[in-house]
Amino acid sequence: MNSLYKLAKTVLFRFTPEQAHHIVMDNLDWVTQLGLHKFITRPVPENPIEIMGLRFPNCVGLAAGMDKDGEHVTAFGALGFGSVEIGTVTPKGQPGNPKPRCFRLVEDGAIINRMGFNNVGAIQVAKNLQSARAFRNRGGILGVNIGKNKVTPNDVAIDDYMKCMDRLYMSGDYLAINISSPNTPNLRDLQAEAELDKLLAAISQKRKELQEANKDHYVPIAVKLAPDLTDDGIKTALDVIVKNGMDAVICTNTTISREAIRDNPLAKEPGGLSGLPVFERSTAVTRLASEHLQGTLPIIASGGVMKPQDAVEKMEAGASIVQLYTGFIFEGPELVADCVQAIAQWRSAHNK
Ligand SMILES: Cc1cc2nc3c(=O)[nH]c(=O)nc-3n(C[C@H](O)[C@H](O)[C@H](O)COP(=O)(O)O)c2cc1C
Repeated sequence: MNSLYKLAKTVLFRFTPEQAHHIVMDNLDWVTQLGLHKFITRPVPENPIEIMGLRFPNCVGLAAGMDKDGEHVTAFGALGFGSVEIGTVTPKGQPGNPKPRCFRLVEDGAIINRMGFNNVGAIQVAKNLQSARAFRNRGGILGVNIGKNKVTPNDVAIDDYMKCMDRLYMSGDYLAINISSPNTPNLRDLQAEAELDKLLAAISQKRKELQEANKDHYVPIAVKLAPDLTDDGIKTALDVIVKNGMDAVICTNTTISREAIRDNPLAKEPGGLSGLPVFERSTAVTRLASEHLQGTLPIIASGGVMKPQDAVEKMEAGASIVQLYTGFIFEGPELVADCVQAIAQWRSAHNK
């Protein structure tokens, strides 16, 4: 780990995770504008890949949830991420769950969070994303992850996704449909076959309308799944995703399982577990999806990438790109460069 980041981490980890998050977010823009991030990371080589009809400048992206309101996309791009997925965004702004709602499990290389989609809402996020133009002009890929408000019952959840699409269709390069967060009551029920089919059919129809209304501009859509579905549940969801003309699948979100961290006193905290303990299942889901899809759709892998070799394992399991969240917090921005480099070497050795 970069020694300056090690020092910064010692300081930041004395604050609560949410305080540390705000300290970093409040200072990231000027730090990167002045070029000071160069002291904690190194330049990232180009290693482009084309998926969903989009050219990603490299195979490492920032996972959803870090920049929920899309305020710091260009700064994250400066840290080397080829893609940044903002959100989850809901139609109306909402405060999220009561604090504390995010916990570091340092010995386990993990985080438990029950943030609950705290965000400023789709209209404000659309405005914020104008500041992402510099990142996109340099070839960075912007994903916009959307979900439903907590107060919206599941039987009208579709309306929330429609509203988000209306407001954000032209704001990014791809949309990600979040139906897999454990922190919005009943959200994950939308992954069941009939519900998913209804939702994705409506999303597909909506995209057609928005495409026509926007000079035939097609925005690809990825669907993010939970690692806690059974293998059969994953396969069924994948079939529905393909049937409805979606463009990619994101494997996976956080897990509600506590099997891997039983001895940690924080294990009893409700929420989604991320980082090292989710790596194995998340990678198994990636592999299962890859075998089931047989190349029909690309896979974006998210879950427990803590070191470059983990990123390579995700590629071996069938991913096209990987996303970082928890590993980025524990290891710092150098992990981005390390993963880009490791994946580039792996791709070149395997003609991928
Ligand atoms: C604090 C926190 C907030 C998150 N918020 C979101 C979110 O709003 N939407 C989403 O799709 N995923 C969210 N995630 C999940 C991450 O995008 C990622 O899929 C997951 O953490 C697994 O990757 P990791 O092990 O590299 O962290 C969040 C994760 C964390 C740790």
